Amino acid sequence: MALLAPSILSADFGNLQRDFEMLNESKADWFHVDVMDGVFVPNISFGFPVLKALKKVAQKPIDVHLMVVNPEKYIEEFREAGADIITVHAEACPHLHRTIQQIKASGAKAGVSLNPHTPVSTVKHLLADMDMLLLMSVNPGFGGQKFLPLVYDKLEELSHIRPKNLVVEIDGGVDLNNCGQLVQSGADVLVAGSAVFNTDSPTETIGKFKQLIG
Ligand code: DX5
Ligand code: ZN
Repeated sequence: MALLAPSILSADFGNLQRDFEMLNESKADWFHVDVMDGVFVPNISFGFPVLKALKKVAQKPIDVHLMVVNPEKYIEEFREAGADIITVHAEACPHLHRTIQQIKASGAKAGVSLNPHTPVSTVKHLLADMDMLLLMSVNPGFGGQKFLPLVYDKLEELSHIRPKNLVVEIDGGVDLNNCGQLVQSGADVLVAGSAVFNTDSPTETIGKFKQLIG
């Protein structure tokens, strides 16, 4: 049984309220919020105002994925804006252990994300400190990219060393064809952006995902 976290990066920005409410009413489990700064990744998305607008209506946990440099500068502000889970990139944090403690002190759950080329071994000493490990299955920065199967190797490696309570999330290129295998390989939460929103009925697509993974 796994969770689905649709990414609002692929929502209709002219009708965000409508899409937030659609997700509330759907079988989706979390809201996935992709924050990009144009420095850590070659794209700029959105920040606090959009998160605050979501928080006003969200009836499900808000999973904030920070693709930014120096994320430690903004942890408390993201928590206050409504984040339930705050995920930082290992590649953006020279003092990752300290940043994890900072996220926990803010009251949020602490997630750590790894780019496709970053080995799981980079964070093996911190797996017990973090609440969630987010494995990128595309190079972060854009929705709608092709899934990188190298993430299966990482899931296999993790299966031997993961602490019982660690939540493993997969993000990038997840669709109805690969979701089942990802969950069988150990994923607990799947992020899906374009596979949910670029369909005629996102609500029905979410239902199909949940049938396959839930
Ligand atoms: C990519 C983001 C993803 C993205 C996923 O940098 O972290 O969350 O929105 O989009 P899809 O599911 O379309 O690959
Ligand atoms: Zn993401």
